[in-house]
Amino acid sequence: MAKRLKEYGKEAKEYDAKNADKCYKLEVADIKERIEGFKKSDGVELLDVGCGTGGHLQYLKDDFKCVGLDYHKEMIDLAKKKLGNKVKLQQGDIITFNLNKQFDVITCLFSVINYSGDYSNFRKIIKNFYKHLKKGGVIIIEPDYTVKVYKNFTGKDKRSPEMIMNEIGKWLKIMREEGFKVKYFYRGLHQSAKGLYVLTK
Ligand SMILES: C[S@@+](CC[C@H](N)C(=O)[O-])C[C@H]1O[C@@H](n2cnc3c(N)ncnc32)[C@H](O)[C@@H]1O
Repeated sequence: MAKRLKEYGKEAKEYDAKNADKCYKLEVADIKERIEGFKKSDGVELLDVGCGTGGHLQYLKDDFKCVGLDYHKEMIDLAKKKLGNKVKLQQGDIITFNLNKQFDVITCLFSVINYSGDYSNFRKIIKNFYKHLKKGGVIIIEPDYTVKVYKNFTGKDKRSPEMIMNEIGKWLKIMREEGFKVKYFYRGLHQSAKGLYVLTK
């Protein structure tokens, strides 16, 4: 397993404190708007992949029937405390998980997908998302920064080797090759500079 992924297990307890300035409530307001704009299926089943401690799910759980999935048990345990019994939480890997069901909405937020590390894994993730999405459903993917934006912020070209950068053209190509219709928005959640992919099937 990649180093950065291990760290999420070790750092779980500090995760919420470290991200205290992140406004999950306003991000979810944006997410709901996108869902309303794109979803054509009738149901309200939602899967949050890489749900962490449940920051987004706490504001989604009253409107959707939610499932949260994360690699790290430590993150899931913290999410359980925050979310109670209304949300089903499950340990799993973004590449290999198989829930044997399809959802109306899949969310994958705060750069989780960038931890795929290489494009072979990235494609596997997109294929897996396709398998788990109902026809008429919608996927909201919040990537990490593009190289250009990251460089503006930090002066560096690349993040840790476990992470791929958001290369919009390459990502769109793979998503479309795997069967999705995709729109990319340069303005991300709650005016974040991370951008946003909205995929439909
Ligand atoms: C930056 S945090 C984002 C958590 C949450 N989405 C949020 O917005 O607070 C990244 C999360 O992705 C999870 N993660 C990393 N690699 C994963 C994988 N291969 N499969 C599932 N979850 C993974 C980590 O455990 C961590 O909870």
